[in-house]
Amino acid sequence: MGNSILIRKARPIDVSEVVDINNAEFKWLGGEPETRDFFHEYLNTDFFWVAEDSNRIIGAMLVLPENAKNYGSSNFDWFKNRAKEYPKFLYVDRIVVKPDRQGKGIGSSLYKKLFEYYPTRPICCEIAIKPEVNGGSIRFHEHLGFEAVGERTYTVNDKEKTVRYFCKRPF
Ligand SMILES: CC(C)(COP(=O)(O)OP(=O)(O)OC[C@H]1O[C@@H](n2cnc3c(N)ncnc32)[C@H](O)[C@@H]1OP(=O)(O)O)[C@@H](O)C(=O)NCCC(=O)NCCS
Repeated sequence: MGNSILIRKARPIDVSEVVDINNAEFKWLGGEPETRDFFHEYLNTDFFWVAEDSNRIIGAMLVLPENAKNYGSSNFDWFKNRAKEYPKFLYVDRIVVKPDRQGKGIGSSLYKKLFEYYPTRPICCEIAIKPEVNGGSIRFHEHLGFEAVGERTYTVNDKEKTVRYFCKRPF
């Protein structure tokens, strides 16, 4: 990774570039394209960060704490219902790198910033398994020390979907 890449908090001006990167990979990120309004809502949260290179956004990460209000995700709830096992967990809503910049350490740099910020909290996420497995993301997360902790199959818009839950515990 070049030295010029900066990992920093997202600002309002970043949102349209974040939407473009997100929507290039939306099939792995909830399955639907997102709007600017979605990301604007999270600008004041503690961990909506971006990777910037030469004034362009090349990656983004949005993380929510276990006490997030009105988030409305059944995968987040899966961890919330197991709060004793994952006390004060952080839930990675999404991490995405611009397609032509993937595989160059940018996703790892975003996670490293999160680990530095929250060295004592479990970090949790889900990864798609069916109908299509996100094998790249599984390898990426395992490489960073995440472990599979569960799986769930559910129906969205009459389509069956399976996700696998992953967590990186601080110790
Ligand atoms: C998953 C994602 C965020 C990873 O970011 P990245 O910048 O490409 O990953 P890195 O370059 O930091 O990868 C670090 C390690 O993860 C592994 N890895 C990452 N992507 C991989 C892939 N597609 N296939 C296999 N291994 C992969 C490699 O072991 C790599 O280490 P190495 O370069 O020493 O071999 C990025 O590929 C992406 O945006 N994918 C589309 C969106 C997505 O799937 N997000 C996750 C949803 S759960």
